[in-house]
Amino acid sequence: MKLKFNSDGKFRLLLFGDIHEHYDYKTSPRFKDMQKLMNAALDEYKPDLCVFLGDNCNTDKIEEDPEAFREMVADLVKPITSRNIPVACILGNHEHDHGHEDEIVAIYNSMENVIMRNDAPAEVTGNANFKEIIYSSDGEKPVFCLWFIDSNNCFEDRSLSHYDYVHPDQIEWFEQECEKLKEMNGGKPMPSFVFQHTPVPEEYELLRKAHFWELPFATRGYNSKRKTFYVGKKGTKGYVGEGPCSPEVNSGQFASWKKVGGILGAFFGHDHLNDFWGKYDGIFMAQHKTAGFRAYTDGCRSCVRLVTIDEKNPEQFTQELKRFKQFGLKCECLGPIMRTLTDRQSITLHVLGYIAAGLAGAGVLAFAIIKLTEYFGGK
Ligand SMILES: [Fe+2]
Ligand SMILES: [Fe+2]
Repeated sequence: MKLKFNSDGKFRLLLFGDIHEHYDYKTSPRFKDMQKLMNAALDEYKPDLCVFLGDNCNTDKIEEDPEAFREMVADLVKPITSRNIPVACILGNHEHDHGHEDEIVAIYNSMENVIMRNDAPAEVTGNANFKEIIYSSDGEKPVFCLWFIDSNNCFEDRSLSHYDYVHPDQIEWFEQECEKLKEMNGGKPMPSFVFQHTPVPEEYELLRKAHFWELPFATRGYNSKRKTFYVGKKGTKGYVGEGPCSPEVNSGQFASWKKVGGILGAFFGHDHLNDFWGKYDGIFMAQHKTAGFRAYTDGCRSCVRLVTIDEKNPEQFTQELKRFKQFGLKCECLGPIMRTLTDRQSITLHVLGYIAAGLAGAGVLAFAIIKLTEYFGGK
């Protein structure tokens, strides 16, 4: 499949984060609502390529019933593939959960208009590291590269990091391939994007420590950063709904992007509430919240992201988010409260609920102490 810029000089990518589809999708209102979003976005944006950012479908029954898995993936991507639009899919940590990655890649790869494969040598870490080149509108010249990198699952030493990183051998392969692209591009680094499931640790550079008066609007860092509350730095836009769950050991992937040059942007999934974006050290980074309703969600603010690249001026790419509600869609899978609240309001309600429960508990305890004191004091 050869990707190329349109005659208007544009190439449009439509991104879908963490859908987490389940085997019961055929009867699930959550699947129907997700498909409404997908169809509305496809109709409105008419993309040239869709990207699924990992944690796409549940894989726990793949061994006993691979056909059910194949059917679920096929039905998930059907609104895209039936419009004859290609869709590139990457592996999320949950596609690694059951040890059937090669079967998963083979199933995706066997479908028409679906792109998932492993271009790296078998000994390189990960099961689906690949790239796609976008050619000029006349189909002659390679102009832009899209990298799809397998960010693996959990780190071997959980005391150091919960999530794994992109391994040094993957980075080495990536750098070798970038050298080849440079040769194809007249000695200059080829403008590129990276798509991968788990964000790099540098995503925290888009955030800053919250002042105490900002705490109601701040979010707690992940794992080793849990004692710090964060808000977006100046220039960071979008929603910071949870501490990014990036690896806590840095394998040097971001430094490698800087070294090879040409990496204009990186797009991540993994954290279902976050949709913030910003630039750090010259590289645009964006996290993508879920486009579905299966895993924990932000009410009915599931969203898609459109990224438009200009053939003549790829450095000036544009991106925009559009949420379920903004398409004018009606959510049927969530109750009236979750449909209305944002997850921030929901979290605040939860926190208030805990505080109320804590105060009630303290009141009961105080009452019990007073009564016991009276009882024993009276003796
Ligand atoms: Fe996920
Ligand atoms: Fe994930």
